[in-house]
Amino acid sequence: MSTQHLWLRCEKKEFERRSALTPTTAKKLIDAGFQISVERDEQRIFDDAEFEAVGCTLVDNNSWPNAPTDVPIIGLKDLPVSQDPLPHTHIQFAHCYKGQAGWSSVLARFYKGGGTLYDIEFLTDATGRRVTAFGYHAGFAGAAAGALSLAAQQSGKKLGPLDPYENETAMIKDIKNVFGGSANGVKVLVIGALGRCGSGAVDLFRKIGVAEDDILKWDMAETAKGGPFQEIMDVDIFVNCIYLSSSIPPFVMKDQIIAAGKARQLSVVVDVSCDTSNPFNPIPIYSINTTFPEPTVPLDLGCVSWVHDLPLLSVVSIDHLPSLLPREASEQFSNGLLPSLLQLPQRSTAQVWTDAEKLFKEKQRDAVVAEGL
Ligand SMILES: NC(=O)c1ccc[n+]([C@@H]2O[C@H](COP(=O)([O-])OP(=O)(O)OC[C@H]3O[C@@H](n4cnc5c(N)ncnc54)[C@H](O)[C@@H]3O)[C@@H](O)[C@H]2O)c1
Repeated sequence: MSTQHLWLRCEKKEFERRSALTPTTAKKLIDAGFQISVERDEQRIFDDAEFEAVGCTLVDNNSWPNAPTDVPIIGLKDLPVSQDPLPHTHIQFAHCYKGQAGWSSVLARFYKGGGTLYDIEFLTDATGRRVTAFGYHAGFAGAAAGALSLAAQQSGKKLGPLDPYENETAMIKDIKNVFGGSANGVKVLVIGALGRCGSGAVDLFRKIGVAEDDILKWDMAETAKGGPFQEIMDVDIFVNCIYLSSSIPPFVMKDQIIAAGKARQLSVVVDVSCDTSNPFNPIPIYSINTTFPEPTVPLDLGCVSWVHDLPLLSVVSIDHLPSLLPREASEQFSNGLLPSLLQLPQRSTAQVWTDAEKLFKEKQRDAVVAEGL
């Protein structure tokens, strides 16, 4: 059997330090008989030398267009916008299956080049569950941003820009420091606590010293009674991590926050789910996504706020949270992808790849019509 060759491309999105393969997963693939080419990439959280040390071959940055066309190219984020035909097989997130802006021109590039797209968002197991996702570290990082925002607020300041942490240890140390050694005494509520993002948020709070009894963990059973929920007013940080799939009553409302008055304990809302523009958003108290340079937005309570001297409430609504912890997020994500990658040599029969290819072909047919090709 011939060796399966896989090519890790560089990422071109600004600030993207995560990677679809890590030195750990690349080594496991090499041990299984793969040949791995890795494009040199200064913005990747892993040094090129870490890949070289485990047996990968380093190649020039952004040289994948010249790779042999039978070598699959793996990356994370969408390729820069272009009309160039794509003759290779690409394994990546492409954000073009749900009618997103420019979806048909992305798929048209594959049609013109004869290439194939395996969109990682749609790699699923036999039960339909995604084989890998960044959720855990989204929740972990969201909870971290919430804790940092609370600490800043408690010392009368606004949270400044967030920079990706080198690793989890550095993040935990930084947060514990701003709380004077431990966040013991802080009270939090995580909704969607049984999911990927929710379990990450709960773990972060544990690791920074929040007492177990002060981490309220809610999921479907606890919200079945229907919101809005008074319990949200009575914690310091509320983190929303639900997967929104239908219309549900709001969890929290502006009127409720105003009615809670000066005694309100709630200081920070972190919306990890970030269904900001979804008409069913259960946190309808803000309307913008925040960013690493500007991680919080104050809740606008209008003149009521100063007339009644209401305490500040900050919202964190960053939609690319895992980038705050690129090393661990990449490791966990890539490890989840590994069993599927190991089946790449059997991609004409392995369920995860045949299903993804079937979906690609359906979407490509739609794009051909939409583009009039
Ligand atoms: N902000 C970011 O950077 C970022 C990154 C990754 C994922 N996300 C988003 O986070 C959300 C959650 O993703 P996930 O991978 O954790 O999903 P998941 O399916 O693993 O978990 C979702 C959880 O929400 C619970 N849930 C659903 N509806 C609920 C309700 N009405 N009340 C209480 N609990 C409810 C489910 O039971 C489940 O436990 C998704 O919308 C995803 O797009 C955001």
